[in-house]
Amino acid sequence: MKIIKVQDNLAGGQAGYQVFADALNSGATTFGLATGSTPISIYDAITASDLDFSKATSVNLDEYVGLAADHDQSYHYFMQQHFFDAKPFAQSFVPAGDAADVTAELAHYDDVIATHPVDLQILGLGQNAHIGFNEPGTPFASKTHLVDLTPSTIAANARFFADAAEVPTQAITMGISQIMEAKQILMVAYGANKAEAVKAMLEGPVTEDVPASILQQHANVVVILDDASARLLTK
Ligand code: GLP
Repeated sequence: MKIIKVQDNLAGGQAGYQVFADALNSGATTFGLATGSTPISIYDAITASDLDFSKATSVNLDEYVGLAADHDQSYHYFMQQHFFDAKPFAQSFVPAGDAADVTAELAHYDDVIATHPVDLQILGLGQNAHIGFNEPGTPFASKTHLVDLTPSTIAANARFFADAAEVPTQAITMGISQIMEAKQILMVAYGANKAEAVKAMLEGPVTEDVPASILQQHANVVVILDDASARLLTK
């Protein structure tokens, strides 16, 4: 595992951009993408660059259940705004949050992941150490599944909605076993509110209570942290 300490989110954007650029230049064709505030500075650096993803494929981690792709808080919409409008991929997959048959959508997304193995997967970190929307207690063997979001995740994401009551309570997420199949993983976490999750992820036991702790068992992980998120690390 390689840990890159940066001063702030902006410097993290440059460091993360470089990981994407290196992957693309060494032949990566499929990129696993994440949403949330954390990857935005990386996506900004990418969209401002001359990197070309027009022959590549993207596979997103997750989507809220009940939000159509054009809802301004859907992860589809986020990806359009922060990445795809400026840098289109040949094909982009995001789970369909408004699928009439969610069970069929889960199976479909398992197929998508199986047929498009991810070369580089970017991950943010939940305050409770979730990855994607794999909340604490999710089996490490999980595949794409429907999640009841925890109250802490709903509260953390309420800042993006006009009213906490509008935050979806369920999501579709890629499973942990599928995240672990990516050839390379880029984990990014900033801010003091992530410090405990960072500590548990990197220095705690590997346990399903701390979903991100499984990354200790992946052979090719780059972690970008700022001073605040790294402040509890002792090793
Ligand atoms: C959400 C997403 C995660 C993301 C996390 C952290 O719940 N499902 O993929 O990593 O929250 O978000 P942020 O980067 O805004 O702190």
